[in-house]
Amino acid sequence: MDKLEQLDEPIVCKLDDDRVPPSPCTVVIVGATGELTARKLIPALYHLHRTSALPQPTRIIGFARKNHTLDSWRNELFGALLEHSRTKPVDRTAWDRFASSLSYCRGELSDPNAYASLEQAISTSNDQRLAENRLFYLAIPPSQFGPVVEMLHQTGVFKRDPSPPFWNRIVIEKPFGHDLASARQLNAILTRHTHENQLFRIDHYLGKETVQNILMFRFANSIFEPIWSRQTVDYVQITLSEQAGVGTRAGYYEEAGALRDVVQNHLLQVLALVAMEPPVSLEAESIRDEKVKLLKSIRPPEHRDVVRGQYTNGSIDGRPCPAYRTEPKVNPNSNVETYVALRLQIDNWRWADVPFYLRTGKRLPINVSEVRVQFRQTPNVLFAARCGKNLDTNAIILRLQPQEGISLRFNGKVPGTSMQVRPVRMHFSYDTEFGAYTPEAYERLLLDAIDGDATLFLRRDEVEVCWAIVDRIRTLWGDSPLKENEFYPAGTWGPPCSNELLKQHNHSWRDPRPVCASTPANP
Ligand code: BG6
Repeated sequence: MDKLEQLDEPIVCKLDDDRVPPSPCTVVIVGATGELTARKLIPALYHLHRTSALPQPTRIIGFARKNHTLDSWRNELFGALLEHSRTKPVDRTAWDRFASSLSYCRGELSDPNAYASLEQAISTSNDQRLAENRLFYLAIPPSQFGPVVEMLHQTGVFKRDPSPPFWNRIVIEKPFGHDLASARQLNAILTRHTHENQLFRIDHYLGKETVQNILMFRFANSIFEPIWSRQTVDYVQITLSEQAGVGTRAGYYEEAGALRDVVQNHLLQVLALVAMEPPVSLEAESIRDEKVKLLKSIRPPEHRDVVRGQYTNGSIDGRPCPAYRTEPKVNPNSNVETYVALRLQIDNWRWADVPFYLRTGKRLPINVSEVRVQFRQTPNVLFAARCGKNLDTNAIILRLQPQEGISLRFNGKVPGTSMQVRPVRMHFSYDTEFGAYTPEAYERLLLDAIDGDATLFLRRDEVEVCWAIVDRIRTLWGDSPLKENEFYPAGTWGPPCSNELLKQHNHSWRDPRPVCASTPANP
């Protein structure tokens, strides 16, 4: 290594050096025999245990009504871990050590006696920290959030005001209601039994490394912030596209649709992080304040700003895909949207007149989540005067997943004796820079909940303001059935009318491309 390279060695600044290690606690998974526990929660806890990130000791109690013995529950979890673990092969010794911290408490969620057994299971410990520090993870259907929290509180298993330094917290998963009214109602019930700062509402997107990195990218660098505004940005596109169809989740999806399933939470959260003002500090409340402020400045969309769609039969990567209406448990006349595209305007000083195009859909050509910030054209002199529309504009692309990375696209001279210009890119790839280590979102989120750090969780007002936007869109759609031009064949980028949404403003979708080692992303 020569001297220059040595000088360029990265200096790592650890922000959590002064963080007090989280205290030992009991994690109670309510609804411990469902898919979420087996596919996500236990694999995440196992990895945290394996990397010694969990406080020592940590105890995990599964609470559910299924007739399991501890052994049969553990065996089921181990089988699921073999399938879903992000690291393979599973480390049997680490699993055995981890599994010894598991116990199972059987009971009906509506039966007060079950909560008495749970209380006994939690409080029988010689370590007061395990008996008093309690994290309840509600891995249950949303209709049960309210009744279960009420039972936990009324039976004294969950303490609204535990004696310091001990703590009690509750983690809940989306959906938090199905519209603004039901979300308010749910929040009212929850906060009757808990303090808001004991509630950790998960949006797993916020646990993704690349989503967390949006704040670092914007506020730990001096070169991007000055160009992050209407002065330089022409428009922003945020795409969250999936090849998968509705799969086995029709029961839920028929009620939710893409608008409630993804726009209300993941897409609006990414938008908030991309567009918010710098927070006054890195504290959870400061960051959440700024996100709420941004979400509140979104202008209520009009009919012309909103497009929906539903997939018909088609094919992806040569595999035939059935139409949504013919999927198991889907109503054959269903008008549920599997695709949504929006044009949102943010009425604030920074973003006035810059359209934010958001889209999400199932059965689209590739799996990708990406933010594309597209900059204005150069003045119409020199190269622009000669090339016109053929001179592409600059862009910054944040690839959230997969092949996580960030690209800057700019124009350069094609080497040779003739004068040719074309876009080139500078690319940062997570894999190349940091190695292929991408922890699951749930690992970070579980650890933060144990630690009491609410930065990556949704506050009540944040959830409600997102529902207000979604309600507005649903009102625009009303009960009207899908029209002919709102269907799209599986494997395409959505219905034809989604192009019209941008055409009105002389823009067009810049479809993300799959990235392989040899092809640049989004050339
Ligand atoms: C979930 C939605 O919240 O997010 C799913 O319910 C969607 O429909 C998923 O597929 C996408 O998240 P990820 O992390 O799998 O890309």
